[in-house]
Amino acid sequence: MNSIFRKFRTLIGLEFNLQILLTAELIAEAYYGILAKHVPDPVIKSMCQKVLRDEVKHIAFHEEFFRLNQRRWLPISSTIWSLQFQAVFMCVERAVWLDHGKCLMGFGISKHDFRAKAQGVCRRFLNRVIMLPSLSTSAQAHAKM
Ligand SMILES: [Fe+2]
Repeated sequence: MNSIFRKFRTLIGLEFNLQILLTAELIAEAYYGILAKHVPDPVIKSMCQKVLRDEVKHIAFHEEFFRLNQRRWLPISSTIWSLQFQAVFMCVERAVWLDHGKCLMGFGISKHDFRAKAQGVCRRFLNRVIMLPSLSTSAQAHAKM
């Protein structure tokens, strides 16, 4: 799985490279987060929580990068970026399930559980990064002019 990530992310420039890294971090947040809740062994649970704390910090770094990028874009560009981001994310999420689903099912985690967790992580990330201007924001900006 790691070699596929490495080859795929170098295909299209720095930003896409970072996006693929970020996608792996988001999937890891979902994976270790759901595993930490289901695994009975306290040592493994603790390790999952440690990995999870690390991933959250890595995601915060990416979040800042992508938020700054998005501020320079038109809303339509942000929308297109968000659509391709979600498409890539969904492909990776499905690939991870194919590769690790049996392991997760061993802890009572269903495909639906994993998908819901992963998509929740993705949605929260996009909500923090994509800032489409609302009418009130536009009105406030005009009021300051
Ligand atoms: Fe990471």
